Amino acid sequence: MPKRENYDVLIVGSGAAGLTLALNLADHARVAVISKNALHEGSTYYAQGGISAVLDSDDSFESHIQDTLNAGAGLCDEEIVRYTVENGPRSIAWLEELGVEFTLEETEQGTLEPHLTREGGHSHRRVIHSADATGRAVETTLVERIREHKNVVLLERHMAVDLITRRKLGLRGADHVLGAYVLDIDNDSTRTICARFVALASGGASKVYLYTSNPDGSTGDGIAMGWRAGCRVANMEFMQFHPTCLYHPNAKSSLISEAVRGEGAYLLNGAGERFMQHYDERLELAPRDIVARAIDDQMKRRGEPCVYLDITHKPADFIREHFPNIYATCAQFGYDMTRDKIPVVPAAHYTCGGILTDKRGATDIPGLYAVGETSCTGLHGANRMASNSLLECLVFGTAAARDIISKLSDSADFPAIPDWDESLVTHSDEQVVVSHNWDELRRFMWDYVGIVRTDKRLERAKHRVDLLLSEINDYYGNFRVNSDLLELRNLARIADLIICSALARKESRGLHYTLDYPEPMDRTGNTVLTPTVVKPRPGARNLANT
Ligand code: FAD
Ligand code: SIN
Repeated sequence: MPKRENYDVLIVGSGAAGLTLALNLADHARVAVISKNALHEGSTYYAQGGISAVLDSDDSFESHIQDTLNAGAGLCDEEIVRYTVENGPRSIAWLEELGVEFTLEETEQGTLEPHLTREGGHSHRRVIHSADATGRAVETTLVERIREHKNVVLLERHMAVDLITRRKLGLRGADHVLGAYVLDIDNDSTRTICARFVALASGGASKVYLYTSNPDGSTGDGIAMGWRAGCRVANMEFMQFHPTCLYHPNAKSSLISEAVRGEGAYLLNGAGERFMQHYDERLELAPRDIVARAIDDQMKRRGEPCVYLDITHKPADFIREHFPNIYATCAQFGYDMTRDKIPVVPAAHYTCGGILTDKRGATDIPGLYAVGETSCTGLHGANRMASNSLLECLVFGTAAARDIISKLSDSADFPAIPDWDESLVTHSDEQVVVSHNWDELRRFMWDYVGIVRTDKRLERAKHRVDLLLSEINDYYGNFRVNSDLLELRNLARIADLIICSALARKESRGLHYTLDYPEPMDRTGNTVLTPTVVKPRPGARNLANT
């Protein structure tokens, strides 16, 4: 393969956001989609509960909007919420046209309609799903459809290292994205991909915490790359912890969908007592921040390592039919959910903050877009409502495509771009430094920047992350890159952004809860951080590597 390629659009990530964008662009532009893993691998594939959209005649846009605003605890952008909700039914129809099969139920009139489930924060049944593996149904269909487009180049196991922009190259005039340096993981070489438009669709950053529902690739690469290139990043303190992940030493990343509570499951403490009535009148279906905090409180108060989810009062056939995959996962770890309570704990699940974008997915840098979990559109505010995330990927993937198409015929001036330079670096013989720093970072983030925070813990975390960042930058400057090092570098930046945002918010709101300021303030806004783009250093191994 040549080291240098040119496309109209480079899309970093092949989840719901990236592939929605790619499919909408495919007939109009030369597109490359890169994915650091296999094409299907990302959070989208693992989504369980479903996609929220107003599909029932008893439901209304106003109700979905209001529920989203309530869950977002005063920080949602109402215009964005309305735009997203109103585009919900159209997005679902698009998925159905592509071939996604949703679970159906027979109506009283004998017709088949999509079954709608409920999740926390929703006042109606409005979550359309494919049993308990909605993400798999969506992602495999999107992957099948994009593979049919012969003019879309799909590069698996290719990892974006950093964006190339005019400003990073030290060029005069207005800034514009020019492409990205991309590591071909299997061939251990870094190529230059030039593109007039680049979209970051690289998912969230929950891997910054020791315990997470997310797959391994959720290392916030897009957010870190956008930040290094000069994009503002907003609301990073609002990391969402999903209340119910299976508690078992070997059950890495096993989510127990909120839809289990939506279909009637209770939360019990170690004494077998329901406890949500002490925290919120919506009980087990209160928004996620409230339920996760309640579980954390019960565990700490009672000194217990987990709480329990109990749906044994529902018929066994109903449970197996609605939750076949969760049933199988629990069985694998020795729990028959038709008869046993399931031990559960909260784990990091979703990044509500991200690269600040407008309604078209456009960022601060002309030509650069951010879509999906990487972005902060204003939809989620201080706490994302369940199943609004896949919806956001679909709505903003489509909106970004529309905007890019409208600009494709604009004239473009492409400067000379230096290739990735490895002449001043060597192979590392100390890979242990990378694995040690990965562990340390994720542990202190869990211990000091978790569900309940204090200024003192945040300052401790800030001190540690500063040390790590300087060690990692030194390492990065001297050794050849590999995917572990690149992810660690990005995670450390993400940790810093979360800690700085959390320190800046002197109140408790949504997902950010601090014992030092336990109440919300009367007036507040988004936490927006602005980067300083590092000027090219003469003699640095590559002007754009910083
Ligand atoms: P992802 O699907 O995470 O895709 C990211 C892509 O970027 C991947 O292809 C990855 O390989 C690639 N990538 C990352 N970094 C790089 C790089 N440096 N270079 C190249 N490629 C890169 N939301 C809902 O709305 N409903 C649900 O039911 C639901 N259930 C969930 C269950 C689980 C277990 C999890 C983890 C999440 C769930 N969510 C759900 C959240 C939702 O799945 C995600 O927010 C959404 O899928 C994110 O889509 P995305 O396209 O932004 O990113
Ligand atoms: C779940 O199924 O509980 C996850 C839903 C979501 O994260 O939106």
